[in-house]
Amino acid sequence: MIQLIRGFKDILPNEIELWKHIEQTAITLFESFGFRQIRVPILEKAALFQRSIGEHTDIVEKEMYTFPTEKGELITLRPEATASIVRAYLQQRMYAKDPIQKLYTLGPMFRKERPQKGRYRQFYQINAEVFGIESPYIDAQMIFMLTRFFRQLSITGLEVHLNSLGCPLCRPAFKKALSGMLMEKGDALCSECIRRRDTNPLRVLDCKRPGCQSVVENAPAITDYLCDDCARHFDRVKACLERMGIPYVVSPRLVRGLDYYTRTAFEIQTRELGAQNAVAGGGRYDTLVEALGGPSQPAVGFAVGLDRLVDLALTKTRASELTPDIFIAAMGEAAQEKAFEWSCELGREGIKTEIDFSDRSLKALMKRANRLGAGYVLMVGDQELDRGTAVLRNMRTREQTEIALSGVLGGVKSQLRAASDGRPHGDSQL
Ligand code: HAM
Repeated sequence: MIQLIRGFKDILPNEIELWKHIEQTAITLFESFGFRQIRVPILEKAALFQRSIGEHTDIVEKEMYTFPTEKGELITLRPEATASIVRAYLQQRMYAKDPIQKLYTLGPMFRKERPQKGRYRQFYQINAEVFGIESPYIDAQMIFMLTRFFRQLSITGLEVHLNSLGCPLCRPAFKKALSGMLMEKGDALCSECIRRRDTNPLRVLDCKRPGCQSVVENAPAITDYLCDDCARHFDRVKACLERMGIPYVVSPRLVRGLDYYTRTAFEIQTRELGAQNAVAGGGRYDTLVEALGGPSQPAVGFAVGLDRLVDLALTKTRASELTPDIFIAAMGEAAQEKAFEWSCELGREGIKTEIDFSDRSLKALMKRANRLGAGYVLMVGDQELDRGTAVLRNMRTREQTEIALSGVLGGVKSQLRAASDGRPHGDSQL
């Protein structure tokens, strides 16, 4: 049998309700904050990611799926969506219509990382990006929106980690101080970090190897090197979060794995997923639009890792959201013909209906209805047809009611409505 590629996975039907619920919650919430959906291709030119994420990052150095076209041009399965959204903002001249654009997108990303729990080679993100606003209010509002999103999904126990990475004016002094320190105390660094302390010393702060971690424990804090404008911007972001009652932790070594960030950088972390603890990450990238050949426009955004979010939410899903409302047990040719019509009608009305059109016994069909967790079973066979009725069984209370064949649809709908009136629902219920 041909198996899945390592690091890739199937998302099976019993999980899909949860995926859809999470995606729909994001769509409704983000749109209420003024974001509009954009869809960008999964394949882009490799140069787009090399120039935006940075040549000396793990992603570009070793994690991209890159192939030559027949003409020899290198193309890449996108490892993230921000670069593509910036490309679209420029190529489609969206900035000319209005430099302020709030965009979101959902879809698969690809990184050739070492697979482990919570880390896949194809994974899914929801991204939100704002172009054209430099104000720290928008940074804080995006973090606020993210925390609302998690609250609506009933996901708790999260921490907001925050840092400022400065700007092209103040960062060079920090880089110099950092690489000086790494030169002096760098014997314990791994070979990759020894190489990177010259090319890209900020990446050393990100290395998870114990030797490197012990060295960077004494590294200077970038927040001590911020210029006045960056310090003011960072203070304002923090003050806005406090004003909205959002707790945060300042993590001066949080640099994120992509080179395009300026000023605000943040991650939403959980203690419940082991090593892969970030469920969302983002920040400001005020120089990227210009670096990719566009006008000078500030930008800020984030991406949520959907796979990790699903892992966190899975235990809290209400089983009833994943189960059929009604199972139709139809025995015999004539009953199946009726049941065929009913199943189509009920499905059209948005009622989750299950029927397998098999010639099995009532006992076998009831067993399957039970296994699927159906709320109701509608039973019909030759006897019922002769009497002109069908039997509707409430699987929870075991109560059975006879319904006239001519009024089956109305009868089923009114019973389901009566049952759901006593059940809690709403957007924060999982
Ligand atoms: P990132 O931190 O690389 O940022 O990814 C964002 C989130 O995607 C992570 O916090 C994590 O939840 C999820 N993620 C990343 N890699 C994997 C993986 N291999 N398996 C499962 N989940 C993963 C970005 O991608 C930036 N583009 C975010 C951004 C948008 N910054 C500004 N705008």
